[in-house]
Amino acid sequence: MVNVEICIGSSCYVKGSDKVVAIVKNLISEQGWEDKVTVKGSFCIQSCQNKYGLGIKVNEQTIKGVTLSNAKEIIKDAIGNAL
Ligand code: FES
Repeated sequence: MVNVEICIGSSCYVKGSDKVVAIVKNLISEQGWEDKVTVKGSFCIQSCQNKYGLGIKVNEQTIKGVTLSNAKEIIKDAIGNAL
């Protein structure tokens, strides 16, 4: 099982993390990953202070450089590599 955590802290929320939750849920159904991938919200994981972009973790690994516009592609790759 691949676990995706999306930060819903205030700094990420203003960058659109609520929309990333929807993007990832759509991605999971598009790819048929319902039995393989879980998504949950998290509190701040320090990506904001470290200027990594939106706070996203895939299997405990912080994914850097995520923005609202590239979220689908980057997260799809990260999940694909973790499956
Ligand atoms: S608020 Fe999301 S990483 Fe800090």
